[in-house]
Amino acid sequence: MDRPQSDSLPQDLSEALKEATKEVHAQAENAEFMRNFQRGQVTRKGFKLVMASLYHVYVALEEEIERNKDNPVFAPLYFPEELHRRAALEEDMAFWYGPSWLEAVPYTAATRRYVDRLQQVGRREPELLVAHAYTRYLGDLSGGQVLKKIAQKALDLPSSGEGLAFFTFPNIDSATKFKQLYRSRMNTLEMTPEVRQRVTEEAKTAFLLNIQLFEELQELLNQDPEDQHPSQAAGLRHRVSSRLQDSIPAEQSRGTPLLSNLSQMPLIRWVLTLSVVVATVAMGFYAL
Ligand code: HEM
Repeated sequence: MDRPQSDSLPQDLSEALKEATKEVHAQAENAEFMRNFQRGQVTRKGFKLVMASLYHVYVALEEEIERNKDNPVFAPLYFPEELHRRAALEEDMAFWYGPSWLEAVPYTAATRRYVDRLQQVGRREPELLVAHAYTRYLGDLSGGQVLKKIAQKALDLPSSGEGLAFFTFPNIDSATKFKQLYRSRMNTLEMTPEVRQRVTEEAKTAFLLNIQLFEELQELLNQDPEDQHPSQAAGLRHRVSSRLQDSIPAEQSRGTPLLSNLSQMPLIRWVLTLSVVVATVAMGFYAL
């Protein structure tokens, strides 16, 4: 009854963002990588890759937030103690990639695109930064908590929470209450209808950047035959080789499966060659 008409956005920015991103949220949940994750089908390699991307994304997001912490277009949403993930992700990187993690963490093409957009927004259109903070932090405080439990079980991680610091918000007692506070702060931001429209569009872009990231990671995993065996033992056994493969940019590794499939079929080539030889000899005898 009091729902807004389809061509107008709800009054509150928090409601407008929720409404505008409903469809892309469903799309994100249904991305193959996320679908598999929800089924508990996540491997160490896949998890390491997605965490590495998130590391780069949060470094950029929080750098831009720091840049704009006193700017009235963002200031009410500045909650570094409660929300910021960089330190947690650095801990996770050390757990997953070892002491030299800084040189070892992969930086894929889709991650770069996401980082580029965050930097552009923070530097040139800071009024849109709210869209990116909303998309990531409210997501982490919602579905992110489910993903944490799934990862802990699927990857057989210690109950101490090692490797999952990203998903833990020690300075937030109630995620539900904090999300309410965050929404009410979003609703205090003053913006013209034109800016509101651009903010909701930017939130959709933020979701799409996340979806592209999942699609790219899934493609990388599909190209890796080792990733078809999700046991923990395999994950550990291949730690060194996967570290090497982790740093291959997406574009470089594209196209390799076809080549490797062909090189794995020498038997077929031999059978074909032999058949041709036999047929030729038989025809020779027949001609005699
Ligand atoms: C397996 C994947 C996902 C699951 C299961 C999931 C689940 C959920 C759930 C249960 C909520 C709470 C809805 C509510 O309180 O009304 C939520 C909210 C949210 N999620 Fe997700 N989500 C997933 C992926 C994502 C992704 C990839 C993003 C963005 C990067 C995202 C961003 C958000 C945001 C921004 C909200 C807050 C919506 C609002 O209250 O305005 N989610 N999600």
